[in-house]
Parts: sequence; C-alpha cells; structure tokens
Amino acid sequence: MTRDFPEGFLWGASTSAHQVEGNNDNSDWWDWELVDDGAHVHEPSGIAIDQWNRYRDDMALLGVLGHNAHRLSVEWSRLEPEPGRFDAAAFDHYAGVLDSVLANGMKPFVTTYHFTLPHWFSARGGWLADDAVERYATFVGEVGRRLGAGRLPFVCTVNEPQIVPLEGYMLGVFPPGHEDLGEFQAANRALAAAHRAAVAAMRDVSSDIRTGTCLQLIAFEPARPDDESDRELAAMMRREMTGMHLDDLRAGGDVGDWVGVQYYSKTRLDSRLQPPIALPPEGAETTLMGWEVFPEGLRQALDDAATVGLPLYITENGIATSDDTQRIRYLESHLRVVADAIRDGLDVRGYMYWSAFDNFEWARGYAPTFGMVAIDRDDDLARRVLPSAEAYRRIIETGRVDALTAPAG
Ligand code: BGC
Repeated sequence: MTRDFPEGFLWGASTSAHQVEGNNDNSDWWDWELVDDGAHVHEPSGIAIDQWNRYRDDMALLGVLGHNAHRLSVEWSRLEPEPGRFDAAAFDHYAGVLDSVLANGMKPFVTTYHFTLPHWFSARGGWLADDAVERYATFVGEVGRRLGAGRLPFVCTVNEPQIVPLEGYMLGVFPPGHEDLGEFQAANRALAAAHRAAVAAMRDVSSDIRTGTCLQLIAFEPARPDDESDRELAAMMRREMTGMHLDDLRAGGDVGDWVGVQYYSKTRLDSRLQPPIALPPEGAETTLMGWEVFPEGLRQALDDAATVGLPLYITENGIATSDDTQRIRYLESHLRVVADAIRDGLDVRGYMYWSAFDNFEWARGYAPTFGMVAIDRDDDLARRVLPSAEAYRRIIETGRVDALTAPAG
C-alpha cells in the first residue's frame, strides 16, 4: 500500500525545559509566576512534570511509542546562571538527557531559547539591550562546544521569535509584561537577528549541526472581512508576525539549514476589541485553549515557509483537549494536510506533535492538556499513555494517515 509519508520521515513530539523540568527558579518566568500575588498566571509551574529527574523513563517511553525524533530545549538560566559563568553540572545533565534521547532511537532537535531567560539577562533589558544578540550568540556557541555536534544534529535557534515580542512586549501577558508597539517591533527584530547570530555561532562549532528557526505561523484573518480597519489590522499582524521573519530568511546570507513550522490555529482580528482578538464563530470546533480547529491554515503556513527554499520540519502542531478522540481527529486532519503538501512537492521532512506530555502551559497553568501522554497530577505525576499515542505509533510504523484510525492489532 502506498505511503503518505516517505521512509526516513522524522516523527516525534516537542517539549520545552520550563514546561516540563520543574523548579526552573533562576529564570524570568519563575519570578513572573510569583510576583503580584500570582496575578499573571493561573498557577505557578512548581515541579512541572519533574522531567529533570525522570527524563530517562520519559525518553525510554517515547522510544517505545515509536518516535524517531524528539524536540526539547536546554535552559539558558541553568547553563549560564551568571553572565559568563557556565555551569558544568548543568551541561553534564543535558549531555545525559541528549544521550538518552539518542539511545532510545530518536534524533534530538535542541532548542536553545524557548521563552525563558536567565534573571541576569532580563534584568539588563532582555532582548532590548544593545548587546542582547551578542550575549545570546556567546551562550549558543558554548552549548555547541560543550554538548558537541554528535548530540546536536538539529538545533532550533529560537522558538517562535515573534511570540515573546507579542505576548511580552505588546500584550503584556508574558514577562517583561510591557504593552508597547515600538518595543514589540524592536524585540521582534532582535530575535530575527538572534537567529542569524546563533546560526553563525553553531557554524563556528561544526558544519554537522543543522540549524533552523521555529516560526509560529498563525493564520490571521479580519473578523469582519468587509471592514477596512479589521483588514488593515490583519495585514499588519501578518507583516509583523510572519512577513518580517520570512523576508529576513529570504534575504540571503546564512540563515541556517531548515525552517521550523509551528501551527495551531487561526486568529480573527477585530479592531473594536482590546486586545483585538475575536472569539471563534458560533459552532466552530474549538480546543481547551479556546482556539478554533482550522487544518487548512497549516497548508498556508507550509506554503509560506516553503518560499524560503529550505527543507521544512513541523516542529509544533497540536491540541489541548480532555477528549483524546478529538486529539486523534486533530492529528488526522492536520496530517492529511501535511501528506497533501508532500504529494504536491513541498519538502517537509518531519512532524513533531505538541506535546509529548501534558505540561505547564505558561499563563494558563496545567489545565490545557496537550499531551499524548497524560500526566496524573493527583498521582505523583504518573505518566498515562493515551490512545492517541498508540494511534500515532501506527502512523509512524506505516507512514499512512489512515493507520491513525485503524483498529488496534
Ligand atoms: C509554544 C509552546 C506552547 C504551545 C501551546 C507554542 O506557542 O512554543 O511553548 O506550549 O505553543 O500554546
């Protein structure tokens, strides 16, 4: 039977350090969760899913579930706890984690910045500091040298360069909690520059390390298509959130070896609201995040990213739901889009579901459950493999989307 996905396609799931490790107390997010009597978050991250201690079992489980790739992040605030001081024990820890990923048959995709910053870096102005990009590149080079190319086949230089600018500098819901359009634009550009600087830093270490930035490519639409101000707002958001980064990648120079595509949903913009984000229309299928399920937007994201001319990896796509059958439907509809894109000639080489495990969903705390492996927070963080994880294993084994819904056996 014909496959929808070629042999050698990379299949896995994604996580990030702060969301799974626990006790990430040297980071800006840790403070953000605790200041103002916890007003910024639903609940603090605390011990998360304790993956700092349980990574061996977790990686073994993902190996058993058939994954051949795994995306995780290394935590800057642990690795460089003070400016210029690199923590050997923390590097040893991540060397152990990555060895465990490899030993379980998975290729690591290692993100070097996934939303959280060391205290010292945020205290000196975060991404708006004059030398922010340079400091970041120094850290990335150190990651390359100390962990070594053998553990770093794929490096994600920046997770969603547009999202911290948006949430942290424009909407004020992530640290540093600012609401300033000028700062949003400055941080957004700094993070595009951070990607290029990180690529250069890794090139100095080894040409075997394949680098890419991971763009969140939201489908922005005007809430009222015939309203000019909604249309202008949607165009502005597309320009800032998507166009600017894609233009930068297309501008040439060394922009890395691949592009990461992260896609969840569509956002309808209504210029009368503050923030100008409209709820999904009545009757639309939504998730525990309140996001509309809109698989067609993934095709747009892939088509846009393909204009860069580099191989594509889907480094995040997933659903928060308490109904695992909805997760299987989401996988099916989105993976059909990916299969069609490949059939139409797009160079998509891997898919990583968000997320491997339920985890700390930032300001929303632990309520939105994205995991194919659920975490029982009332039973010592026990890992519970859901039917979607078994369905996913079948698609990995067969390369066929219809295997997702095939009867077990
Ligand atoms: C982020 C993840 C997050 C996910 C779901 C992405 O924006 O990279 O950290 O958990 O979306 O909200």
